[in-house]
Amino acid sequence: MSDVQIFNEDALAGVARLVDASVDLIVADPPYGLGKDYGNDSDHVRGDAYVEWTRKWVELYLPKLKPTGSFYIFLTWQHSPEVFSYLKTRLTMVNEIIWDRRVPSMGGTVRKFSSVHDTIGFFVNGKDYYFDLDAVRIPYDPATKKARSRSIFVGKKWLEMGYNPKDLWSISRLHREHAERVEHPTQKPLELIERIVRVSSPSHGLVVDPFAGSGTAAVAAQRNARKFIGFEVNPDYHSVALGRLDALRVTAADRGAQASLPLLEA
Ligand SMILES: C[S@@+](CC[C@H](N)C(=O)[O-])C[C@H]1O[C@@H](n2cnc3c(N)ncnc32)[C@H](O)[C@@H]1O
Repeated sequence: MSDVQIFNEDALAGVARLVDASVDLIVADPPYGLGKDYGNDSDHVRGDAYVEWTRKWVELYLPKLKPTGSFYIFLTWQHSPEVFSYLKTRLTMVNEIIWDRRVPSMGGTVRKFSSVHDTIGFFVNGKDYYFDLDAVRIPYDPATKKARSRSIFVGKKWLEMGYNPKDLWSISRLHREHAERVEHPTQKPLELIERIVRVSSPSHGLVVDPFAGSGTAAVAAQRNARKFIGFEVNPDYHSVALGRLDALRVTAADRGAQASLPLLEA
């Protein structure tokens, strides 16, 4: 059986497949309640009903997290205050990460500021949570390195190691012309999910995505040698996700790697 599995199944039923306290990382990108068409009604739940629905699936998933486990949830500002208030009663909040989608300036809204960010809540089960900062450090550019390499900067080691990503992640959303783009209306950039997978799950650890969509978290897990279980209720998106995994395996086979093994790519 593959180490990376996506089931065409409702997340609230699929959770029964997971063993208690077995999951290193839950990365959840649920419908935001903004009325998008996912081929189902899942994005049409709003306000109090949205918070109640979130509470329902979160309560099913939390027992599956290891004591060292982490929980990331993607939200919008419309619901994040209420959902964070609830989650803080169940977990420890570590960060609110702002994903700046780098949407170019356009016309459109004139009675408020243009909304260009998503909110990602980072929560943990306990103080001994897994966090591998070195896996996601960002290299300093040559100019900064040069400017800071004078002897007064005693911490030269960190100049070589790179810096800790800030809690504002500026990563372009995927446009039609992006090579990684597939048929899904809210596909997340791999770079975004991969950072979460690398920093918050150990090699060969188990990553779970209840709302897999086009399978971005599954691809991130496969590329970084993590185990993965995900659920996607729409059969078309499920096929898209499986197709992305197949493409990765073919690429590995082309390189002469063993297709059945999780991949590690630069
Ligand atoms: C925001 S999208 C996820 C996008 C994904 N992160 C990606 O990069 O492609 C949410 C997905 O959840 C799916 N979904 C909605 N309700 C679900 C449920 N109860 N169980 C499983 N999947 C569900 C939708 O069909 C949609 O594809």
